[in-house]
Formats: sequence, C-alpha cells, structure tokens
Amino acid sequence: MAGRLDGKVAVVTGGGSGIGRAAAALFAAEGAAIAVLDLVSDAAQETVDLIAADGGQALALTADIADGDEVRMAFDRVSTELGPVGVLYNNAGVNSSGSILTSTEEDWDRCMAVNVKGTYLCSAAAARSMTERGGGSIVNQGSVAALVGVANFAAYCASKGAVVALTRSMAVDLATSGIRVNVICPGTVYTPLMRPMLTARGGGDEEKGLAMTIAKYPIGRLGTPEDIARVALFLASDESAFMTGSVVTPDGGMTAQ
Ligand SMILES: NC(=O)c1ccc[n+]([C@@H]2O[C@H](COP(=O)([O-])OP(=O)(O)OC[C@H]3O[C@@H](n4cnc5c(N)ncnc54)[C@H](O)[C@@H]3O)[C@@H](O)[C@H]2O)c1
Repeated sequence: MAGRLDGKVAVVTGGGSGIGRAAAALFAAEGAAIAVLDLVSDAAQETVDLIAADGGQALALTADIADGDEVRMAFDRVSTELGPVGVLYNNAGVNSSGSILTSTEEDWDRCMAVNVKGTYLCSAAAARSMTERGGGSIVNQGSVAALVGVANFAAYCASKGAVVALTRSMAVDLATSGIRVNVICPGTVYTPLMRPMLTARGGGDEEKGLAMTIAKYPIGRLGTPEDIARVALFLASDESAFMTGSVVTPDGGMTAQ
C-alpha cells in the first residue's frame, strides 16, 4: 500500500522524545526517509533504531536548533545523505516557568532562542532545500499557550504566540515557492516536557497536578504524542494541499470553552 509520505525526506526536530519521536515513527511508517534532529544524541539515535527495527530509513543528527552553524551543518548532512527536504516538522521546544514577576531573564532568553529562533533557523535551512525540489511542507509546533493565557508560563506563551505569527508570515512569503506552512497548537500532552509543570501545579504531587489539568479538558483526558503526530502527518502530506497559514488546534476542546 502506498504511504502518505512516500519518496519524501522529512526532518523532525526534537525527534528524540515525546511528540517528535511519535511523529518520526509515523512519518517513517508512511514512507518518508527521516532525519531525527535532537540536542541529545542518544535520544536521536534511539528513535533512529526504533525506525530501523520497523524497516524504515532514518538518520540521527545532533544539533542545538538555536545555533545557526549547527543547524546549517545538520541540514547540509540531510541534503547530502538523504536528498532535498520535502517536510520539516519544527517540533523541538522547551518550557519556561514563572510569571513575568517570578521568571528569570535567562529563562526568557532560552525559551525565545529555542522556540522562536530555532523555528526560524530550521525553516530557513529547509526552505532553501525545498526550493530545489519545487516545494514542501513546514509544520510548526505552537501550543494552546499561544491562544490563551496559561498561568506561570509567560515566556513560553510569548514564544508560542511568536511561532503562530511567524507561521503566517512564512506562509505568505513562501507560497509562490510551493512551500506550505501551518502550525499545530496542541493542548497538554503527557510527555517528559510536561511532567515538571504537572508536579508544580499539584503542589509537588504529579497525580494531583494531572487530575487538575485533565479537569480543564472537556474531552476528559490529556493528548497523546500519537494524537498530535497524526495531525502533523496530515499537514505534512499532500492531503492538506490547500492549507497554508492555518492554526490547527488538537486540544480536546480546551480552547473551545
Ligand atoms: N507536551 C505538551 O503538553 C505540549 C503541548 C503543546 C505544545 N508542545 C510542544 O511540542 C513540542 C514537543 O514537546 P514534547 O512534549 O514532546 O517534549 P519532550 O521534552 O518530550 O521532547 C522535546 C525534544 O526536543 C529536544 N530539544 C529541546 N531543545 C532542543 C534544542 N535546542 N535543539 C534540538 N532539540 C531540542 C529535546 O532534547 C527533546 O528530545 C515542543 O515544542 C512543545 O513546546 C507540547
């Protein structure tokens, strides 16, 4: 059976954990050759090993997406070893903690550097490669935190709001090059990234924080990495050919209230 990404080269940033790992595995199962890019080499390699065990093709890349030289070197390797990029999932991201009164300047700078500058750097590198093959699809990772205020998440909310604005700007600029750009704004997904936030929300008790968070979701559960990976697959594939600049919100109804 034909895969939905057959013959395409897909880069998944933050592919060593959580949503990125689920997306890398799903994209590979749908026929793409995957570059798994992560700050943590062992994590990227583990995802590559999982894909290879399922008969897929994948390459592990170690880079900090906030570092322009590292990003350019990583994308050069993708072009050389796998071919021009057809799909980029800008998934890597970091959390922040605190309101503007309680967070630190360092926390703000790192959150902006990874979530916003990292998205810009990877998108620029991918867009250059995509033009060689006549277009492609960039899927950005926002968050419900871009759409509603989330307590004690000031830098994170601001960074994800910037990713939504950057998505629209890139969609307009790149449309004539055949490059579509959309953004996913997931609700809470139970991954290593969110566990410290859940524990803090529960006053040190993760189970309590989890229950308090689920209470905000009309659908009665948190998301899974696979819930979000399936949305990313749709946006990455030609099935979403008429969509660009869209904000897609898999959030169990959280922002519908
Ligand atoms: N989990 C959620 O509830 C949730 C909700 C909305 C949005 N998101 C977003 O989804 C994305 C993935 O989140 P997750 O929950 O799967 O997180 P995760 O922590 O499980 O995975 C993130 C991965 O990104 C990598 N990474 C972090 N900084 C990096 C950098 N500078 N360069 C390269 N790789 C880096 C990490 O090493 C890790 O492997 C993030 O952008 C996050 O903001 C998550």
